[in-house]
Amino acid sequence: MADVAPAVAAPEATDVTAGRASDPAVISAGLKGAMRRLASGVAIVTALGDEAPVGMAATSITSLTMDPPAVLVCVNQTASIHAHLSPGCPVSINLLSRHQRDVSAAFGGAVARDARFGVGSWTPDAHGLPILEEAQANLSCTIDSMTPYGTHSIVIARVEAVRLSEAVDPLIFQDGAYL
Ligand SMILES: Cc1cc2nc3c(=O)[nH]c(=O)nc-3n(C[C@H](O)[C@H](O)[C@H](O)COP(=O)(O)O)c2cc1C
Repeated sequence: MADVAPAVAAPEATDVTAGRASDPAVISAGLKGAMRRLASGVAIVTALGDEAPVGMAATSITSLTMDPPAVLVCVNQTASIHAHLSPGCPVSINLLSRHQRDVSAAFGGAVARDARFGVGSWTPDAHGLPILEEAQANLSCTIDSMTPYGTHSIVIARVEAVRLSEAVDPLIFQDGAYL
């Protein structure tokens, strides 16, 4: 007789919007709960500021296309980096390694904007943009387009150079914490 896989109990689910789906606050709270359940890699996006480089932590990096090689990142319009992003500008996207949670915290706002590059080891790329040593990958990009949507801008960046780490060991953010 063929082996039969043991039955696995289906996870229980609750419709947290039941009867209240017309309330935007209920939908938003439900969506936040859903996103806490989505494990994401963490990146640091850097750009050239007026006098010094600027940067922020982001989980909203998505591979967009291979032809052309492009990624997207969603940037809150209130983030300090936003004013320094526009089509034609260089950006670097640094995918963090598991041991770099201090860099994520710093660029997530725990460290003052002008002191963030003091956390981690940074070197300039061909555009003079800081790229992070010991990251999983460094993508040197130029912004192709920016589309505002609600509170954020969807930034599409064309990838022009890639550096990769030897080992695959990324920093993962899930349920408001690092794995
Ligand atoms: C793990 C993590 C992921 C984040 N992802 C995003 C993101 O995808 N988009 C975004 O706009 N902000 C994101 N943030 C928040 C920004 O990093 C943070 O608001 C910004 O760096 C601080 O803003 P400031 O530069 O104006 O001080 C994230 C923060 C953390 C800690």
